[in-house]
Amino acid sequence: MSGKKEQWASRVGLVLAMAGNAVGLGNFLRFPAQAAQNGGGAFLIPYLVSFLILGLPLMWMEWGMGRFGGKFGHHSGPGILQSMDRRPIWKYFGVFGLWSNLIIAAYYLYIETWTMAYAGYSIIGGFNPGSKVPQLQMTGSQFMDFVTGEEDNQLLAVSAFGLALFAICIVINVWVLTRGLAKGIEFVSKIGMPLLIVFGVILAIRGLFISPENDVNAIESPFKGLEYVWQPTFDSIWKPNVWVAAAGQVFFTLSIGMGSINCYASYLKEKHDVTLTGATAAWTNEFCEVILGGTILIPIAVAYLGLEAVKSQGGFGLGFHVFPGLFQNWGWLAPAAGFMWFGLLFFAAITSSLAMGQPIMAFLQSEFRLERNQSAIAFGAMLLPFAVPCAILHQETFFNDFDYWAGTFCLVVFALAEAVLFAWFFGMPRGWAELMKGAELRIPIVYYYIMGYVTPTFLILIFLANVFQPAAGWDRYATGLFSNEPLPAWDWHKDGMIGKVLNYDVQAQPGDSPERVAFLAKVRTWRIVDRLAMVGAFAFYAGLVHYAWKRRRRDGLHTGEEPAP
Ligand code: PHE
Repeated sequence: MSGKKEQWASRVGLVLAMAGNAVGLGNFLRFPAQAAQNGGGAFLIPYLVSFLILGLPLMWMEWGMGRFGGKFGHHSGPGILQSMDRRPIWKYFGVFGLWSNLIIAAYYLYIETWTMAYAGYSIIGGFNPGSKVPQLQMTGSQFMDFVTGEEDNQLLAVSAFGLALFAICIVINVWVLTRGLAKGIEFVSKIGMPLLIVFGVILAIRGLFISPENDVNAIESPFKGLEYVWQPTFDSIWKPNVWVAAAGQVFFTLSIGMGSINCYASYLKEKHDVTLTGATAAWTNEFCEVILGGTILIPIAVAYLGLEAVKSQGGFGLGFHVFPGLFQNWGWLAPAAGFMWFGLLFFAAITSSLAMGQPIMAFLQSEFRLERNQSAIAFGAMLLPFAVPCAILHQETFFNDFDYWAGTFCLVVFALAEAVLFAWFFGMPRGWAELMKGAELRIPIVYYYIMGYVTPTFLILIFLANVFQPAAGWDRYATGLFSNEPLPAWDWHKDGMIGKVLNYDVQAQPGDSPERVAFLAKVRTWRIVDRLAMVGAFAFYAGLVHYAWKRRRRDGLHTGEEPAP
């Protein structure tokens, strides 16, 4: 079985690969956007608390589960979960650990493609107004239109250039995956992660030196932006919507609830530590997120555009449209700054997209005995039917819907299943003992209780708050009970699960043009298609799992369903 022989080459390599897995576009684009939308420093407390009671414990659980399942030759969600409890249902929960990776990779790799294109375009000076290649002078948003082919109210957005780059990006990923764990993923992480940190530190420092006194185009001190992100305020702690957003960010950024961390950890030996290494990877991610991610995008944008303008912008808008233009204020440094920013994003992205491919590859290798090359190519082939529509249809269809269902909602579902399995079925005493094997860090004992009670309970609350999120926010109803103000009429929030099912975010608004109304109707139709595709992918993997276990039982291999000895 080719999957069995794979292992990490060194401890440093493992930490960098794990950090590379976690550190991604989530840190540099999603975090600043979430912080800005949820009140800046008001986001910080729910975020940090979620990190401590959800992120860190789940990180340890996933490392422990992964190493445990790896012992029996399982390297992906279904086998890892099934080895922890006899009830046959667990392997189907484990399907989430394959499915999320496929669906997220479909759109994530497309963003990775943009970062690649933007890095190249920066280095040839394409964004520079004094460029020697005048036909290439474009603003960030013109370049975006060029790469994606997207136009307002148009469903089809085909750019041959963008598709060609997308194909190249997918081929690069598949190729690295064929090289195996140590020579592929670990190698790329060893180069990419240090470079990413160096680029990030340079940009952050240069950014903080902007001042209205020495830069004619600066209108504000970047420290205003830092203050906005970092100064904690407490008014949001009663707002469940902010908690849902913060918890969602913690999951996405740490790659938790996706089966990806478990997969990487499954290549460890029992004597290898998981507590210290797991915590190191998690803290490295937080450094890259809160310190670097919080210092680059928002402060630089605030310096040139002012705080109010930044608050209303999303991470993509700032990162891809606005930034290339802002760097032009840095004179000779502009092409290098652009290259560093998009290069940083590219390295962050590729070390994460590889982490999405590996679980699926590992599944094919360890459950179907495919060779490494075959399984990497199979991953690429499975990806195409999901990735191509993300690239050629308007973002409101496949792209955004995949991001919500696989990249936000199902992370909570899978993490909840994992926490319940680890703490309540596998049981805390065994779970804790498992984590302590080879442990180089003694986790504070309070985490025994956090993992056993707080994490699962909190996950259930987050899950419910997400599903039933009301438009006005739960807090409005709670405070409304104690005041004379009439309660707001009930309606679903457009970002909540029910609001999403009902497509609240793509309904026509009064005053919309007829083109817009027709376009939104098409978007809603295509959402049916993308949702069927998601269900189909899940059913497909569940079918493979069913078949693989049938064969395992027949061949007398480990299934995890055996009665306890
Ligand atoms: N954690 C990554 C990020 O912050 C995303 C990711 C998702 C990585 C799924 C691996 C698996 O961008």
